[in-house]
Amino acid sequence: MSRLDSVIRRLTAQRDCLGWAVHHAPAGPCLDIGLGNGRTYHHLREIAPGRDLWTIDRAMKAHPSSIPPPEFYLEGEAVEMIGVLAERIGRGLALVHYDLGIGVPEQDRPLADAVGAVLTQVLAPGALIVTNAKFADYPELPLPEGVPEGRYFIQCAED
Ligand SMILES: C[S@@+](CC[C@H](N)C(=O)[O-])C[C@H]1O[C@@H](n2cnc3c(N)ncnc32)[C@H](O)[C@@H]1O
Repeated sequence: MSRLDSVIRRLTAQRDCLGWAVHHAPAGPCLDIGLGNGRTYHHLREIAPGRDLWTIDRAMKAHPSSIPPPEFYLEGEAVEMIGVLAERIGRGLALVHYDLGIGVPEQDRPLADAVGAVLTQVLAPGALIVTNAKFADYPELPLPEGVPEGRYFIQCAED
């Protein structure tokens, strides 16, 4: 498969998983880890209008249409910023989207493991995690119809 086809499949899976999760997550705020260009943040604003949307990135490079209000943007390393968020809202997040990594497993795995370990500090009971990298220790949920196995993941925090 060409890398273009692969990106199209990944983004389709991302959109479908986010759409499913917004409707099945408990009520409450959402966190987008990896604001980047802001495409997923912009999409979440559309599909989850009633939820507070927190965002993390190590540097601001979002499109002008997709810059979050400063009070909901945490700039820095993800592991550290999740700690900052825990101090602000405790275990208050209902939905997390994780979109870090460059598609090179040897480099992406350690980061996902480190983030997965601290996420417990901010996840409400029953919160959903939509992620491009599977986290250890969180049960996996079935994917929405049409999403190929292994392309994206939906996991759940313990009740
Ligand atoms: C794939 S992009 C995110 C794309 C974004 N979700 C979108 O739809 O536009 C990943 C982003 O994560 C950020 N990032 C990568 N590693 C990070 C880390 N350890 N801590 C914080 N941000 C990180 C990068 O700066 C980059 O902007």
